[in-house]
Amino acid sequence: MERLHLNLDKRGYDITIGKGLLSRAGEILGIKSRALILTDSGVPSEYAEAVAKSIGGAEILTLESGEGTKSIDGFSRVLEAMAEASLTRTDALISVGGGVIGDLGGFAAASYMRGIAFYNVPTTVLSMVDSSVGGKCAINLCGIKNIVGAFYQPRGVLIDTDTLKTLDKRQISSGLCEALKMSLTSDADLFGIFEKESAEGIIANIEEVILRSLKIKGRVVELDECESGLRKILNFGHTVGHGIEAAEGMHGLYHGECVALGMIPMCSPEVKGRLIPVLNKLGLPTTYSGDLEYALKLMMHDKKAKDGGIDAILVEKIGSCKIERMSITELCDLAQACPELCTDRS
Ligand code: GLY
Repeated sequence: MERLHLNLDKRGYDITIGKGLLSRAGEILGIKSRALILTDSGVPSEYAEAVAKSIGGAEILTLESGEGTKSIDGFSRVLEAMAEASLTRTDALISVGGGVIGDLGGFAAASYMRGIAFYNVPTTVLSMVDSSVGGKCAINLCGIKNIVGAFYQPRGVLIDTDTLKTLDKRQISSGLCEALKMSLTSDADLFGIFEKESAEGIIANIEEVILRSLKIKGRVVELDECESGLRKILNFGHTVGHGIEAAEGMHGLYHGECVALGMIPMCSPEVKGRLIPVLNKLGLPTTYSGDLEYALKLMMHDKKAKDGGIDAILVEKIGSCKIERMSITELCDLAQACPELCTDRS
């Protein structure tokens, strides 16, 4: 079992990583209060049940799996369940699931009675390497991703890598893309693991990949919790990626797959030449066959597109990056000049 500490003064917390931890969640996270457990129908029910048992029993709210749950309706359902369970200000909400459940749970915990304790138990690679840590929580509105939300840090994060055994390969690869993103901007050695190992070898080293990613993420969040500068690097690949994700609707490409495509135009030719074989190895897309123009139009609605400009993250050398202010037109031109995103559709 490994433990990292996120240093945010009074709001600091531990992230515990290991195998077979769910049944000890209450003791490891130090939960002594009553709690509501939030999960979704895509998560094996025994995970939430094990967490509930570890705290001496708790109500479990299971919502429908998928991005559609990160909505005003999903948000009200969690708040109503908290009120119906008569949770008080000293009680807690525990999310057991992927990014949707973590984001929704964090935002509901931040709002209920002006903020109750929140614990995150991520069960997907994507939420383990990225979204469960750092306090960003939000829901979608009017088709715009994460437009309503808060920075609200959890009191603790518990990562049981045994839960990955029930994830399919495509979901694992999609989640690994967030780790790959962090390696490209910040850790050439982590990129080296992606480059050197086979796909099976990367999965066999998943604990190391998670730990290294969380060390990067932790450092970035400690320095810039509310994203006024450095934290923007964690959005690498996400601006064009979110446009593609919006164009694909809820049933197209997975989030990490859209980020994979979104990273390509933001890399120098040398970096792109090393990134594409890694994406191919992980089964992540390297060409986009959808309507790029439409995706770029949707990208303009992205909440980061303020004052007509975007802070674009560019990687010219693996392990480092720069933030460059670009107009929307410049960013669209960059994406449209990228042959991987503009496959011949004639
Ligand atoms: N997932 C990006 C961030 O936490 O800032």
